[in-house]
Amino acid sequence: MYLNSRLRQPSPRPRRIVTPKIIFIGLLLILATTVLAGGTFLVQRSSKKEGSAKTSTPTEQFNKKLHSLTDPTSPWVVVNKKRQLSPKNYAPTDLRTPSMSIGSASQRVSGQTAVALEALAKAAASEGVNLMIISAYRSYETQINIYNSEVRGFGQAQADRESARPGHSEHQTGWAADIGTASGKCEIKTCFADTSEGQWLAANAYKYGFVIRYPDGKEHITGYMYEPWHIRFVGTELSGEMYKTKTQTLEEFFGLPAAPGY
Ligand code: DAL
Ligand code: ZN
Repeated sequence: MYLNSRLRQPSPRPRRIVTPKIIFIGLLLILATTVLAGGTFLVQRSSKKEGSAKTSTPTEQFNKKLHSLTDPTSPWVVVNKKRQLSPKNYAPTDLRTPSMSIGSASQRVSGQTAVALEALAKAAASEGVNLMIISAYRSYETQINIYNSEVRGFGQAQADRESARPGHSEHQTGWAADIGTASGKCEIKTCFADTSEGQWLAANAYKYGFVIRYPDGKEHITGYMYEPWHIRFVGTELSGEMYKTKTQTLEEFFGLPAAPGY
């Protein structure tokens, strides 16, 4: 019996039959794996996206309402022929003489302007450029005398192109200064723009918070002829933004009406 069974040829194994049921389960498994893998990929992608949004710095919108445009103690106050100072005989309370070359005995500006002027003059001096203050704060009364003298000398129409009427001058705010050369060359003249001092000022004033307030070709907006010597402190935030956006006047930057006349 034993022998017999050993001698017996093993009967061929029955061939496994692949039933439609098995094919169906297989397909289901493939489908499930694909869906799972796809889902994981999408989750990874979206979380990556979120992560990058969190780490990147969003472009910051410049806040044009950060400081008042009407309060004379604000570094952004806009004074022109259409915007009289309020009160019209305003005088700053923190005037002081900055530590730099000064053309005449006493020239004062507001505290913040003085600090910025000192930094400006120091930077210029380190590059061999000597900036000198010709005229800075002017009281309401001083402006009356200057304006009247201009009218007497050149007539009212010409005076109005060069000199502000009292209550309308940036010099009265303590935020402005007229800059000249140590040699006196081109003092309060358009050719100041061609001197090394004028060129340095035009290229660098914005870094210290100043703008050239009456640029060339903007008389129809500012109301004044080109004054490459007249700088106005507005703070580095604004001067930097105006530089970046290539905006030359405060009126254009803040969307204020042009002020060619009173
Ligand atoms: N020269 C400028 C406009 C002033 O008088 O304030
Ligand atoms: Zn000036």
